[in-house]
Amino acid sequence: MSKRQIAVSVLSADFANLQQAIEMLNESEADYIHIDIMDGVFVPNISFGFPVCDAIHRHAKKPMDFHLMVKDPNPYLTYCVRSGAEFITVHYETCDHLHNTVTRIKELGAKAGVVINPHISVNHLNDILPFVDLVLLMSVNPGFGGQKFIETTYRRVIQLKENVKAVNPGIVIEVDGGVTDQNAGKLFENGADILVAGSFVFKAENPHDAISSLKKA
Ligand code: DX5
Ligand code: ZN
Repeated sequence: MSKRQIAVSVLSADFANLQQAIEMLNESEADYIHIDIMDGVFVPNISFGFPVCDAIHRHAKKPMDFHLMVKDPNPYLTYCVRSGAEFITVHYETCDHLHNTVTRIKELGAKAGVVINPHISVNHLNDILPFVDLVLLMSVNPGFGGQKFIETTYRRVIQLKENVKAVNPGIVIEVDGGVTDQNAGKLFENGADILVAGSFVFKAENPHDAISSLKKA
């Protein structure tokens, strides 16, 4: 049975009213605040940096989940921890020495996650599974909120769940991109523990209820 948790990405929040967004999340059924860091190099977009993360952290009563979409995440790990990261998730595609990076994340006191883009086989992760706390599967190409969910994600979750069971059953499986109340139920049933949602929440008339609807999907 999956944990059925929701991480809300603030990328789609109104940045002019961030405090309001964080307070809404504090009062909601959201389990994590998902922080998308983009450098304009690994992905063709820039989001926000650590001064903004610190400001979010000052108001957040929920744990923070950092997703680093940057060409080299290593220089930013300490900043993430200082900004309150519970999970720090780095892209497999960006780490030449992935084992070193996940070891460093754990030494800094955070939980370590690894994320892959939609075209990378989950089987490429098999040898890092014993060392990570979380695997994040991208269900869109990273860089922007509001994109369409890629349907092959369903079978990727099933395959990953099988691989994880064999090696490190405690691993948390997270899915990010295009999550709505139309796909959340099936993703949870297939083995996802945490679903990231941005635009589905912040474009909703009632974001608070949108979060609850994902948990019940
Ligand atoms: C995409 C980000 C996602 C994104 C999710 O690059 O990693 O976390 O904000 O947004 P939605 O839910 O709108 O796809
Ligand atoms: Zn993300």
